Amino acid sequence: MAWPLPALLTWVLAWALFLLLQSLHAPPVVAMGVPVLLGAGLAVLGATPWRRVFIGSGFPLSLAASGLAAAVPAWAWLLPLVLLALLYPLNTWRDAPLFPTPTGALQGLPAAVRLPPGALIVDAGCGLGAGLIELHRAYPLARVEGLEWSWPLRALCALRCRFARVRRADIWAADWRGYDMVYLFQRPESMQRAADKAAAELKAGAWMVSLEFEVPTLKPQAVLPVGERKVWVYQAPFRKR
Ligand SMILES: C[S@@+](CC[C@H](N)C(=O)[O-])C[C@H]1O[C@@H](n2cnc3c(N)ncnc32)[C@H](O)[C@@H]1O
Repeated sequence: MAWPLPALLTWVLAWALFLLLQSLHAPPVVAMGVPVLLGAGLAVLGATPWRRVFIGSGFPLSLAASGLAAAVPAWAWLLPLVLLALLYPLNTWRDAPLFPTPTGALQGLPAAVRLPPGALIVDAGCGLGAGLIELHRAYPLARVEGLEWSWPLRALCALRCRFARVRRADIWAADWRGYDMVYLFQRPESMQRAADKAAAELKAGAWMVSLEFEVPTLKPQAVLPVGERKVWVYQAPFRKR
């Protein structure tokens, strides 16, 4: 969705919900709190930290400016920020915002990388589980794990992906040694760090697979086209360019 459409839509939705709840004589905390929660939840649509702040804070700020919320205590204005921080703890802002792996993005992977039944795959930074679903589709006989720093995302992902083991963890602090494949959909800036960690921890023959972002210093084993994107496939021990 082109920016600023996600912000405008969220604000309109939040206001419509507020007016509806008011017309139903909901208590003020509910009438204001529910649209604030909606805004904080939809903040995941923002591609950058600032966009998420704009999306999440639009309704509460415009409500404050409108004077309709005079009864709300001052501390309550911190609520959306707290919710945003819960959804996106600060250290994940440096890494990658929530962009899901598109459906079908990994369908070419099994032809390039054969994994034995029971192989252990991790989606490092699994978000809401779109990557886990694609990995499970590509390797139905593999064991699939997800690591996610944001606890609400982890909880939602675990609900959505019952086939996977989903843990709240920092991908950089986690131990990658047991995995046969580490899947990443992070950021260009994170890729060298990921490659260094994978080189230090992955056993020979294990794979690092990155959607969209390559490691410029490494020679990929395969590069799979996915629409306008690419899937970069590296096998340990990595080959330097
Ligand atoms: C671009 S999204 C990809 C989501 C998922 N892998 C997919 O492809 O559908 C990146 C995810 O990584 C998470 N993340 C970023 N840094 C992290 C870290 N250090 N530890 C754990 N998760 C992290 C973010 O919260 C976000 O959910």
